[in-house]
Amino acid sequence: MSTKLSPGEWHRRYFQQAQWTRDLRRHLYSRAHLESSRRILDVGCGTGVLEAELEGLSSARLFGLDINASNLELAIQNTQRSILVQGDAHQLPFPSHAFDVALCHFLLLWVADPLCVVREIARVTRPGGSVMALAEPDYGGRIDHPAELAALGDQQSDSLRQQGADPLIGRKLAGIFHLAGLLEVETGVLGGQWAGPPSEEAWNIEWKVLENDLNRSDGEALDLQNLKELDWAAWRRGDRVLFVPTFYAFGIKPS
Ligand SMILES: C[S@@+](CC[C@H](N)C(=O)[O-])C[C@H]1O[C@@H](n2cnc3c(N)ncnc32)[C@H](O)[C@@H]1O
Repeated sequence: MSTKLSPGEWHRRYFQQAQWTRDLRRHLYSRAHLESSRRILDVGCGTGVLEAELEGLSSARLFGLDINASNLELAIQNTQRSILVQGDAHQLPFPSHAFDVALCHFLLLWVADPLCVVREIARVTRPGGSVMALAEPDYGGRIDHPAELAALGDQQSDSLRQQGADPLIGRKLAGIFHLAGLLEVETGVLGGQWAGPPSEEAWNIEWKVLENDLNRSDGEALDLQNLKELDWAAWRRGDRVLFVPTFYAFGIKPS
């Protein structure tokens, strides 16, 4: 079976991730005074999940930037009035002080130099404007229960490192925001709530992402079929815990 996710499946994954951070967005968007913002930038916008939401929340001009053309093609279909730009977060193609609010969501994990990216995001934000990293995971703090399933998390971290990602980005976020010179920095970690097993669709996507990651790992091959069955059985029994701490950071651009 192919473990490669189609662009549509990636979109569903990004949508799923955005559900986990919905309450946090409400809190941080209110701190950032979204309602009075004139220009908002989302760096690493992917398939436009946050833009589609922002279009309903704000009358600001919305900009999304991503390096990946296929993601941007989907973002064009998923949004109505956002301005979508292809580019690299390390060198944003925007003038300094152009945005009232600039944010990213599950981006810094993937970039070569997260401090450079946050400095760029701060550069294009106006003095007094808000900079937000809405969600960055920390796989070093992943909890898997029952214990047999812990091997999944360990190997996923190795595989992410091999793909050039930083599986420990979450815990570094506070330091990065301070080093970037942002003020009034607020950082935190999202909690987890489980009301029964995930839907079959959510579970399948979770596993496809995992299989996609583990396929790239040089580590000892895991018996994925067996682990998948253990995972589902544990969800059905009600004793499965899967928790990846997800950090956020908010800061104000100095005047
Ligand atoms: C996990 S996805 C998140 C997408 C979106 N922020 C969301 O939450 O739905 C990460 C996105 O970052 C983009 N990306 C990775 N490196 C980038 C870079 N250097 N510059 C701009 N975008 C980048 C990827 O193409 C991908 O669309």
